[in-house]
Amino acid sequence: MKVVVVGSGAREHALIKKFKSESEVSEVFAVGENAGIAADAEVLASDFTNIKETVISISKARPDLVVVGPEAPLVAGLVDSLANAGVRTFGPSAKAAELESSKAFAKSVMHSAGVATALASRCTDLDEAKQALLTRKPPYVVKDDALASGKGVVVTEDERQALAHAKEVLLGSGCVLVEDFLPGKEASLFFICDGESALPLIPARDHKRLLDGDLGPNTGGMGAYAPLPDFTSADASRLIEEVAHPILGEMNKRGVAFKGLLYAGLMLDGGSARIVEFNVRFGDPETQSVLPLMSSSLANLLVAAADGDLTSVNAPQWSDAAAVTVVLAADGYPSSPKAGAQISGLVEAATVPNVIVTHAGTTNVNAPRVNGGRVLSITATGESAERARDSAYRAVSKIKFEGMQYRGDIAKV
Ligand code: AMP
Ligand code: GLY
Repeated sequence: MKVVVVGSGAREHALIKKFKSESEVSEVFAVGENAGIAADAEVLASDFTNIKETVISISKARPDLVVVGPEAPLVAGLVDSLANAGVRTFGPSAKAAELESSKAFAKSVMHSAGVATALASRCTDLDEAKQALLTRKPPYVVKDDALASGKGVVVTEDERQALAHAKEVLLGSGCVLVEDFLPGKEASLFFICDGESALPLIPARDHKRLLDGDLGPNTGGMGAYAPLPDFTSADASRLIEEVAHPILGEMNKRGVAFKGLLYAGLMLDGGSARIVEFNVRFGDPETQSVLPLMSSSLANLLVAAADGDLTSVNAPQWSDAAAVTVVLAADGYPSSPKAGAQISGLVEAATVPNVIVTHAGTTNVNAPRVNGGRVLSITATGESAERARDSAYRAVSKIKFEGMQYRGDIAKV
């Protein structure tokens, strides 16, 4: 099987590494690159922002499967255009991707499907937003309706800060959600969906804040681990009927089949699991922890989902190991990451047993340099989370670049 992966982050590099390890896959191509991807796959094109040109580059390679990593090309309709060109693609249509790109749409689908989530008020002017805040107690949750790369959400005790964020969002996308605060602990659950049915992957957790102890600003994700002691695969299976199937059913009612990955951002509180958000793609950095634990074929699974035929494959199989991923970020991340620093120790890190190094913001295959906010993901597997964490941090200690930032407490909190 020939597979194309679209995207240029560590998530895509992890997908490429998983495909390369599978006997069903003969060749792996990439659209989008970094120093790691360029070393592991044939790069068809480095840019995927122009949909028309991306479809041309991909079609020429005659792939059996295309997997789109990031949300932007999904929302821009890459899957629709590839389908029109007769290319089998795993990922949602632009319309189905609204589950991620419009929080108001997602809330409306959840409401109709009877899926538990925080009650939200959709506001299009400041008076409405003020009113919505007045009827709630702190902490306040204020969200941009539109995609904002993780920067659209403010959770604060301070009413003035909540209102200031609402004002800023209204000046931008023009639509803000004020919603009830959900207490609890978060988890990420990925469902592979074929339009009708869904199969969950192993639950994972990411660490969104920059600093140890869950302090500092929100980021794209500073680390992840899987599996979870407090949310098992059995718990995940329960959510097929409580979350995935009702959502797929409601989407079908609206005339939009959801094929692709449905990422349920969950808040676990006692026995309940409520939805914080949906994404329509693999999570980053959770994917870097989840895929190394998958012992069955990802390519066969995604082909079956893309063909609307998940019932033809077995549920994914998992090793008994644990995986921990530590993200190494650039100086100045997340507000103003600095590019250019020389990276050393990559070869030494990769020789630590059970360690996988995936690249995100890197460039220059022969002498890698920093070229983005999140630079590398260092994943280790082990027989326990403690063992995996020890190996991951041993590998981290080998890598150096100026201003390198990382958390020391991944999988501890
Ligand atoms: P989102 O982009 O919707 O996932 O929000 C980003 C982060 O804000 C989440 O991962 C949560 O940590 C937090 N958050 C969002 N909505 C809520 C909520 N209703 N209650 C508590 N925390 C929330
Ligand atoms: N890990 C958060 C995300 O992928 O959106």
